[in-house]
Amino acid sequence: RHIVAVVPAAGIGTRMQSDIPKQYLTLHGKTILEHTLERLSSHSLVDSVVVAIHPDDRLFFNLPISRHVKISTVTGGSERSESVSNALQALPHDSWALVHDAARPCVCQKDITRLIDTEDLSPTIGAILASPVSDTLKRGSDGYVSDTVDRSQLWRALTPQFFHAHTLLNAYRQAHLNHLTVTDEASAMELAGHKVKLINGHAGNIKITHPDDLSLAAFYLQQESD
Ligand code: CTP
Ligand code: MG
Repeated sequence: RHIVAVVPAAGIGTRMQSDIPKQYLTLHGKTILEHTLERLSSHSLVDSVVVAIHPDDRLFFNLPISRHVKISTVTGGSERSESVSNALQALPHDSWALVHDAARPCVCQKDITRLIDTEDLSPTIGAILASPVSDTLKRGSDGYVSDTVDRSQLWRALTPQFFHAHTLLNAYRQAHLNHLTVTDEASAMELAGHKVKLINGHAGNIKITHPDDLSLAAFYLQQESD
């Protein structure tokens, strides 16, 4: 299998409220995007990496890793799904896409390997890293609890998410034509009627979203250097 890591990195990080997009903030002396790209590009099962960057991005090509032999770029879109679709269109026929958020630098290589090695994958069966929900979950209504949600079947969807690239691109096109909002690859595949396996991943693989997430990510980055 030809495996391409697809990295949506074209967001502007509204919730982080920093001067520059969050993927360019520095942790342990390197930008978040560099940490992410290092973990993907150094993985022996990843053949190449396609990064979606914002059309106005002036920072990416200053990073030494932008000249890595495995790494190339495409222009991102106004939604994450568009950024991913733009990258998928650039992939060789019959490749497999390992889609991973730029904002998740703490992913560990062991989890990437377990995801890629998932049994019984096919063009219509993909897999995602996910983590079981541990909090008790409440449904709220007008500031009051209306009921408690059974969490025994609930998972937090993480990335990478691993799918046959062409099937995934078609699933995204179908969702787009039907005006359906999809926030991850699995949602598009589910809507297209395909199967998605859940692979238990390390809960430290957080998506850096709010300012508080930075110190947590700095901690996990150190812990998981593998
Ligand atoms: N992303 C992207 N293209 C977009 C929007 C998001 O490539 N149009 C990327 C982000 O760069 C990030 C990942 O998708 O790596 C997950 O998105 P999110 O955490 O929501 O990042 P932002 O959209 O940048 O943040 P916010 O939603 O707070 O603005
Ligand atoms: Mg966003």
